[in-house]
Amino acid sequence: MSIRERIAFFGQMRSNFEQTGALQPSSRRLAEAMAAPLRRFHANDATSATRILEIGPGTGAVTRAIAACMGPHDALDCYEINEEFVRYLRDAIRNDAALAPRADQIRIHHAAAQELTPADRFDFAICSAPLNNFDAVAIDAVLEPMLGAVTARGTATIFEYVFFPVLRRAISPGALGRRLRAAQSAKSKWLARCGRDSSLVLRNVPPARVYELGPLTGRPARLRARTR
Ligand SMILES: C[S@@+](CC[C@H](N)C(=O)[O-])C[C@H]1O[C@@H](n2cnc3c(N)ncnc32)[C@H](O)[C@@H]1O
Repeated sequence: MSIRERIAFFGQMRSNFEQTGALQPSSRRLAEAMAAPLRRFHANDATSATRILEIGPGTGAVTRAIAACMGPHDALDCYEINEEFVRYLRDAIRNDAALAPRADQIRIHHAAAQELTPADRFDFAICSAPLNNFDAVAIDAVLEPMLGAVTARGTATIFEYVFFPVLRRAISPGALGRRLRAAQSAKSKWLARCGRDSSLVLRNVPPARVYELGPLTGRPARLRARTR
């Protein structure tokens, strides 16, 4: 990860922490964990075409991990709400060594995840929007269309930082505490409905848990937990 990328990310974190939701871009380990379902798919089938959705690409940390797993016929649609990140990423897909080979297969939309429509279909949906900063209504507004867009063979991934959200919920008084607890319930509801697997990524600042979820229509499966 370049200094330029860190500076660009830090600048957006300072001007809009609620939306950016992190101090720095995701580590390579976290990015790889987010892209793991796509990697597993192509390990068995290198050439079939898949449609991939990335929500919240930021400066492209996870996008690079996705690009590394993409097959020659895959298409990646990135939904990014922040115009500065959109500008950064449009430049990166032409000039970044990891992204440029896939530039023709990547589309960057300056759009919020909430703008997905029921007609959108993706085999893999990879969301790093900062759900811990969202209220319950916003969590539903992002996860419902995203999971609804995942095909029957598909998988979605989300992550959350460990420890800090729990601490924040515990020490936040009054209305903020209630808002954070309602948001946690909303997230837990989606994990109970669609969650399949989870893994702890220690090599990230801060450590994070990655959740894999099945499509909205899929049969609920027991959530497994692992550490990477
Ligand atoms: C924690 S950063 C992750 C950035 C990058 N994927 C990474 O892992 O380094 C969250 C990203 O989600 C974007 N974002 C926040 N809310 C969003 C929304 N509703 N729709 C699309 N992107 C959103 C932010 O602008 C930011 O780029």
